[in-house]
Amino acid sequence: MNYATEYARSLADPVGFWQEQAALVDWYRAPRQILSQDTNGNDAWYADGQLNSAYLALDYHIQQGRGAQLALIYDSPVTRTIRRYTYTELRDQVALFAGALVNQGVGKGDRVIIYMPMIPEAVIAMLACARIGAVHSVVFGGFAAPELASRIDDATPKLIVAASCGIEFATVIPYKPLLDKALSLARHQVDGCIILQRDEAPATMASRDIDWLDAVKAAQPHDCVSVNANDPLYILYTSGTTGKPKGVVRDNGGHAVALRYSMRAVYGVEAGDVFWAASDVGWVVGHSYIVYAPLFAGCTTILFEGKPVRTPDAGTFWRVIEEHRVKVFFTAPTGFRAIRKEDPDSLLLRQYDISSLQALFVAGERTDPPTYEWLRQTLQVPVIDHWWQTETGWPVASNLRGFEDRPTRAGSASFPVPGFAVQILDEDHTPLAASKEGDVVIRLPLPPGCMTTVWGDHQRFRDAYLVQHPGCYHTGDGGYMDADGYLYIMGRTDDVINVAGHRLSTGEMEEIVAAHPAVAECAVVGIEDRDKGQLPVGLLLLKDGVDIPFEQLEAELVAMVRKAIGAFANFKRAVVVRRLPKTRSGKILRQIIRKIADDKPFTAPATIDDPLILDEIREVFLQQQIGLVAEDKV
Ligand code: COA
Ligand code: AMP
Repeated sequence: MNYATEYARSLADPVGFWQEQAALVDWYRAPRQILSQDTNGNDAWYADGQLNSAYLALDYHIQQGRGAQLALIYDSPVTRTIRRYTYTELRDQVALFAGALVNQGVGKGDRVIIYMPMIPEAVIAMLACARIGAVHSVVFGGFAAPELASRIDDATPKLIVAASCGIEFATVIPYKPLLDKALSLARHQVDGCIILQRDEAPATMASRDIDWLDAVKAAQPHDCVSVNANDPLYILYTSGTTGKPKGVVRDNGGHAVALRYSMRAVYGVEAGDVFWAASDVGWVVGHSYIVYAPLFAGCTTILFEGKPVRTPDAGTFWRVIEEHRVKVFFTAPTGFRAIRKEDPDSLLLRQYDISSLQALFVAGERTDPPTYEWLRQTLQVPVIDHWWQTETGWPVASNLRGFEDRPTRAGSASFPVPGFAVQILDEDHTPLAASKEGDVVIRLPLPPGCMTTVWGDHQRFRDAYLVQHPGCYHTGDGGYMDADGYLYIMGRTDDVINVAGHRLSTGEMEEIVAAHPAVAECAVVGIEDRDKGQLPVGLLLLKDGVDIPFEQLEAELVAMVRKAIGAFANFKRAVVVRRLPKTRSGKILRQIIRKIADDKPFTAPATIDDPLILDEIREVFLQQQIGLVAEDKV
């Protein structure tokens, strides 16, 4: 089957197409209703199907005779550890921890927050939740206490599973104080916390805390429970336009079918292959392509606790590929920009045999053409930029390895994936001609695997995604399709920015910055950055009579954002302006500010740490008559 036929069929007959894909999954009760509407009036896939996602990830493969095959390799240069788990070993640990959760009173539909770094216990906890029908919500370990608290209040978990610390390069980051602080900030109180003690920074335990080892010691293995296809598997919070993160809800049935399909059609891998996604379990890439999809497909997945550089050097990715014979590798372009900076001539790469590698996939942010070319020439394998989001859960556009070879093009995510009816619309909902840039939308119904609602707030789901272009899902990305059908994603059209592959809300940063007593108003804008793609810069309007040295003000703002969101927000710079563009009613015109920043790419290559770039930002905003005040007059 070629791509064009498969794609056309997926759109012409979605029910038939996804019925066939569903038949490849081992359901407890196979669905007869393929596509229907849920109580919210939303499209729902496989409504009467019954299954268990942890069974499909583990037990199913053991029944198929793969029990002795490696399911997961934990490779942690930061702790100098490599640990391997067969399918049987991983299933046994998951079943035992599922028993531990049940002992703590967790049952079907209860939420469990997981706040852990890249360690096997994070995967075990996720799959243990799935095994008993509990809904996990993994919170990225880089989030500060207030972010964790807002997720606790929104998801109202029965239990939290956390580790005592994470490790960033050589720095040990204790998690327990952050967890305790979050619990003191949250209105919702949990029944207990299971804490995995790590040697690098054991935590002081409180009365509500249970040691992971004690919890497991007291447990009996628990079997998989049958859940409905539309029951939630997980909630994953993502940044939107406002400060309040959106709880993206993923169901069990559509997710299992779509991810399984993607492994074959998009990534071209099958059972027994080694698949590595270097991301974090706290992000959607981690959920879909470190944990669920490789295991649904019977692959060996790699859980890497390290960074592309300095753990111990810029050759670490190549070492992992050689050591574990990785066939397909997926990561964010920002990591390669870091590697290229430290090892521009790929001297370290030459020390390793990466001949097992057949393809590299990149996503999470736009791949700039120089990085793409460097990768292509350096690795000599197909380099595939593919595009998707937390909401879709799996790739919307890609060059598909499961079909005939087609050339890739720098800057393009290639073609829509079967199931996704991608269109480019203008603001009046009219489809645009080839190469004209507009809103990238997906005509409904979305295929299986995509978000079904915002946790506890279905109206927000409708408002955020379904009203802008009737009959379509609004992705929030802008882009165009060329005459040959290649899709180019050019960036967000809303107040979301992408910093080192991390999605952040400028609106949220504005709320934090505006809370400083010296700041009257502010706008945070994403400025292009050579290394991290984009970096946030605060445009500040100060209150009259404020008397504070600029350096002190900036340092205080930086500290506030680090404390409220986390260091990974990379809020490091601010400039003072005389006024901000506003509507007559006094609303800040963020769109105009964004457009100024987008239309005038600042001297590349540059980073925001370069004093010249700040001068340039000032100059640009001055030319646009937003007005700036010299900092020495603050
Ligand atoms: N826990 C705690 N702190 C974290 C963290 C985590 N999980 N992740 C990042 N941080 C901190 C960093 O330690 C750093 O702190 P500092 O300001 O005190 O030095 C800060 O956040 C900024 O981090 P980052 O922007 O990630 O820069 P870096 O120099 O630490 O690392 C890269 C650069 C490129 C190695 C890193 O950004 C990276 O690997 N990005 C890929 C992200 C990704 O996988 N995205 C998923 C899409 S596929
Ligand atoms: P997240 O939900 O964190 O995965 O971030 C999704 C957003 O990242 C998308 O809406 C895009 O703005 C951006 N993104 C992801 N992949 C790509 C890509 N291949 N090219 C351009 N932007 C991308």
